[in-house]
Amino acid sequence: MSVRILVYDDYAKMSAAAAEHIASRVSAQPSIVLGLATGSTPVGMYAELVELHRRAGLDFSRVTTFNLDEYCGLDADDPRSYERFMWEHLFAHVNLDRTRTHVPYGAARDPEAECMRYEEMIRAAGGIDLQVLGIGMNGHIGFNEPGSAPNSRTRVVRLAELTVEVNRAKTEAEELPAFALSMGMGTIMDAGEVMLLANGEAKADIIRQAIQGPVTPDVPASILQQHPDVTVFLDRPAAKLLKLH
Ligand code: F6R
Repeated sequence: MSVRILVYDDYAKMSAAAAEHIASRVSAQPSIVLGLATGSTPVGMYAELVELHRRAGLDFSRVTTFNLDEYCGLDADDPRSYERFMWEHLFAHVNLDRTRTHVPYGAARDPEAECMRYEEMIRAAGGIDLQVLGIGMNGHIGFNEPGSAPNSRTRVVRLAELTVEVNRAKTEAEELPAFALSMGMGTIMDAGEVMLLANGEAKADIIRQAIQGPVTPDVPASILQQHPDVTVFLDRPAAKLLKLH
């Protein structure tokens, strides 16, 4: 098992460390292909990346990005869309080339075709060098809910009821689509390097299952134990149930 576990005192320190990690990769490889996540977990990390761009001139001009997922049926400017989230938290504040930022197009008339196009674009970009992930309360990564096939590719998925509920509570949206376009487990596992972030005590049990439990599609994030290069960034409460030496 090659999962490296890093535990920080609090969310701010975890976020800063994750951003530094990305910054060092971007500096070493200016044309890096990043896989990006949305959700509440990486918000602090994106804020730190924006600071690194503003203060230290971290250069994103040659970076390519692919987001993990998007809700089905939402246009890019819908306030609930992940495209909009990325603009608010990162894209609008750094010098990314707009033609090199990618989020699955939720309002595509043919979502299956959009998924195939997305996979093709990732392939054409040379694959994802560094993938950032959060983790759902049920162990999902991207929107690969429990039971997702380890070799699945970008596809239309039905969200677990728990996922819709948790996300609706976070966004205060009245309604959220029950379907999404998501990179598959296989797409994620093909990334050269993976960063998994989690904070808060509510994630402690699923983090334990994912990192130190059995490898099973019932806990999609546990499949990451089979990836050769994973670093897990945790705050202390999220690491609470791990056996650390
Ligand atoms: C988001 C994504 C999801 C989230 C997960 C955790 O693009 O793919 O897997 O990472 O649902 O969400 P938060 O960070 O809001 O707890």
